Amino acid sequence: MTQTQSTRALGASGLTVSPLGVGTNKWIYGKNDERVLQVFQSSFDAGVCFFDTAEVYGFGKSERLLGECLRRSEHQAVIASKFAPMPTRRLDKALDASLSRLGLQTLDVYFIHFPLGRIEALMDQMAQAVQKGKIRAVGVSNFSTSQMRRAADRLARYNIPLAANEVQYHLLHRQPEVNGILDACRELNVALVAYLPLASGRLTARPSQPAPARSSSSNKSHTELQEILQTIAERRGKSVSQVMLNWLLRRDEHIIPIPGTTSAAHALDNAEALNWELNDEEFTSIDQVSSPWKR
Ligand SMILES: NC(=O)c1ccc[n+]([C@@H]2O[C@H](COP(=O)([O-])OP(=O)(O)OC[C@H]3O[C@@H](n4cnc5c(N)ncnc54)[C@H](OP(=O)(O)O)[C@@H]3O)[C@@H](O)[C@H]2O)c1
Repeated sequence: MTQTQSTRALGASGLTVSPLGVGTNKWIYGKNDERVLQVFQSSFDAGVCFFDTAEVYGFGKSERLLGECLRRSEHQAVIASKFAPMPTRRLDKALDASLSRLGLQTLDVYFIHFPLGRIEALMDQMAQAVQKGKIRAVGVSNFSTSQMRRAADRLARYNIPLAANEVQYHLLHRQPEVNGILDACRELNVALVAYLPLASGRLTARPSQPAPARSSSSNKSHTELQEILQTIAERRGKSVSQVMLNWLLRRDEHIIPIPGTTSAAHALDNAEALNWELNDEEFTSIDQVSSPWKR
């Protein structure tokens, strides 16, 4: 599969989404409400329809703003939110509160935000929510390979596939390639939703000067990576963000990056990554230069 295809499967859930999503954890600050409405609209106009939120983002503000976007739009979005499984909290109550903030009857994807508590008990509650028609697909986030397998095994009792594992994955954090997560996603047909795909902006700035000869090897690798991203971006007339997203999209068909943005211009820029591809040589050179971050 290539990124010029317009959708990717959320595992075996039956849901398909745009190959890129939008992260909304910064949709929470005072005066950015109107800006995020533009981010939503611009993303849709550019073919991106998958939005990732969580009850904890701004204590519900991100969900409320996304709900407002949905109310004002005639577009059909795919919405994911997350449950924080702190002791004594009830998943069914938290889900109802998220649905209410989003103004939805049914949530497309519900993630367990991080592994805490008994996985089997959490998956039983997720299965009940599916059976009640409150969620369409079940996901986990920040789960290790063994935790992911336990979740998938428990859901299989109810004939429900595990749709996705949302984990940190970008060029400065390639652990999913070596800790078994990417392999498990392929084997179990689970989507790998990649958060922080732009490394929180740590690579998008232009390197100010070449790394000094005596700088540490990690500083040198960082500068070398910035330079190669910048060179490819300039040669192609694209942004460094697009190059980074394209590398993830090309890495594996199970990967769905969710760059976070509060800017309509950045949302459009990111979506443009779906309209072109890195060639073999570009992909391999980025792969090699960023290999130190597999450790
Ligand atoms: N499951 C989890 O535990 C977990 C943890 C962290 C994050 N997440 C999810 O992952 C999403 C993405 O993570 P993130 O937002 O923290 O990090 P990110 O996507 O790596 O980077 C976001 C940063 O990049 C900037 N940016 C976005 N597009 C850009 C572009 N085209 N050019 C230049 N700068 C650009 C954004 O600024 P602007 O706002 O100015 O565009 C923001 O400062 C979050 O929104 C959240 O939904 C999940």
